[in-house]
Amino acid sequence: MGAVSYRRRHAELCKEIKRHNHLYYVLDSPEVSDAEYDQLFRELLSLEAEFPELVSSASPSQQVGAQPAAKFASVEHAVPMLSLKNARNADEFLEFDKSIRENFLASNAELEYACEMKLDGVAVELVYENGILTKSSTRGDGYLGEDITENIKTISELPHKLIHPCPRIVDVRGEVYFNLIDFQKLNRSQEELGGKTFANPRNAAAGSLRQLDSKATASRPLRIFCYGVGRISTELEISSQIEVLRHFKDWGLPVNLDETVCARGANEVLEAYDNFLNRRDSLPFEIDGMVVKVNQIALQSELGTVSRSPRWAIAMKFPPKQGETCVEAISLQVGRTGAITPVAHLKPVVLSGVTVSRASLHNWDEIERLDLRVGDRVIVERAGDVIPDVVKVLTEKRSGQESRVSLPIRCPECHASVQKAENEVVPRCTNTHCPAQTIERIKHFVSRDAMDIDGLGEKQLDQLIQLGKIVDIADLY
Ligand code: IVH
Repeated sequence: MGAVSYRRRHAELCKEIKRHNHLYYVLDSPEVSDAEYDQLFRELLSLEAEFPELVSSASPSQQVGAQPAAKFASVEHAVPMLSLKNARNADEFLEFDKSIRENFLASNAELEYACEMKLDGVAVELVYENGILTKSSTRGDGYLGEDITENIKTISELPHKLIHPCPRIVDVRGEVYFNLIDFQKLNRSQEELGGKTFANPRNAAAGSLRQLDSKATASRPLRIFCYGVGRISTELEISSQIEVLRHFKDWGLPVNLDETVCARGANEVLEAYDNFLNRRDSLPFEIDGMVVKVNQIALQSELGTVSRSPRWAIAMKFPPKQGETCVEAISLQVGRTGAITPVAHLKPVVLSGVTVSRASLHNWDEIERLDLRVGDRVIVERAGDVIPDVVKVLTEKRSGQESRVSLPIRCPECHASVQKAENEVVPRCTNTHCPAQTIERIKHFVSRDAMDIDGLGEKQLDQLIQLGKIVDIADLY
C-alpha cells in the first residue's frame, strides 16, 4: 500500500468505526453484526501495527465505547472501565497465553485462568459505599459513563444494600442482560403495540437501561451478573478472580459462579471453551464467547494494562450465527389484534446447527430500512431466537429480477380493508371477525401468558379449529 493510500484507508476505518460505535453505544441500533465490526477493528489494528505513526489518541484503537449521551448526567469512573482484546480461535488464545508467560511473566509455568461466560449485554458499574448502592453508570468512553442509578435500582435481583461484612467502598462491575424468553416476550408485546422492536437481547437491554424515565425501565425484567471490581477498600485480602466472585455472592450480588471454570493451563481453557460453545444454545441467556482472566490478582497487577485493555484477560469470541441465503418469498401474517407482519421465506440455511427457512421482518419499516426485495441475497443471523433476522441485503448481488413488496390494501386472510395509523409502524386488518385474528386470539387465550390451559397446545387447537369444533373463545367451555 502506498503512503497516501494507507493513510486514506486508516482515516476511512477510523471514521467508519466511530460511526458504528455511535450507532451501537449511543443509539442502541447497530447497522452491522459484531463479526463485521470486529473485522473492521482488526484491519485498523493491523494497519497501525504496520505503520505505528498512524496511532494517536484520536484513533478508536485507543478508545473504549463512545462518549456518554448528553441526555444523561455523566459519572466519572474512579478506575477506568476498559475493553478486552479478542481471540477468534484456539491459536490466537495459545499465542496470548505464550506471550504473557514469556514476555511479561518470564516464566514457563502454566497459568491458572478463570473462564467466565461472556454475556452479551451492557457493561455497568455499581458503587457501594458502606454497603449501600449510591451510584451506577454505564461504561461510556471508559472514563465518563452515563448516570443510570435510578434505572439500575429497578433490577429486582440487585441488592440496594450488601450483606455484611462487606468493604467500606467497592465499585462492582457487571453485565446487564435479558433472558431470551423475556426478550422474546418484550419484542412480541412491542410488536402488538406497534412500538419499536429490538434486533437482539443486547440492544433490548441497552435500550431498556438507558431510559430517561426509570418507570419504563422498571417494566422490563432486566437481570445482571457481576464479574469485576474497580476500586475496593483493602480491609479484605482477595487473591484471585474466583475469590472476587465468591465474595460477591456472599455480599448478595448475582454472579454466574456455577458456570465459571478454574482452568489450569491453556489446554483446560480450550476444553472450557468447547464446553461453553456446545451449551450455548441451551442457556437461558445469550453468550457471545468466553472471557479468560489470569486468576491470580498478583499476576494481574504484574501484567498491567495497555491502552484500552488489560494484558491479563482476553475474550474468546464464538463464531457468529450468521449465514447467507436467498429470500424466496415474503408472506403476510395476521396477529390476534389484526396486526399484519411480513415474514421472509428463505432458501434453507444452517446457522449454528439449526436449519432455518423463515426470518422475521418485524414490520414494514424494517423492509424499507433494509430495502429488502423478493429474490435478494441476504445475511441472516440468529439473535437468540430460533427465528433469525435479516441483518443485511447484499445489494451488490442483485440481478435486476428482484421484486419489491408493497403495503397490503386488503387483509390476506379475510380481504377486509387494511389501515395503518400515522403513529404506528404496523398495518392492521379492520375486520374484528377476521378468522385469522380469531384463531390467534384463541391461541393467546389458552397460552401460558394468559389462561395457561393445560393440555391444550397449538397442535390440539389447530385440529379443533379445523374440525369446526371451536369458533370462538366461548366454545372452549
Ligand atoms: S471482564 C477490562 N467479564 O465484555 C474489561 N467482561 O470488551 C473487563 N463482558 O466490556 C471485562 N461478560 O461488557 C468481563 N464475564 C465477563 C464478561 C464481560 C461480558 C463484556 C463487558 C466488557 C466486554 C469486553
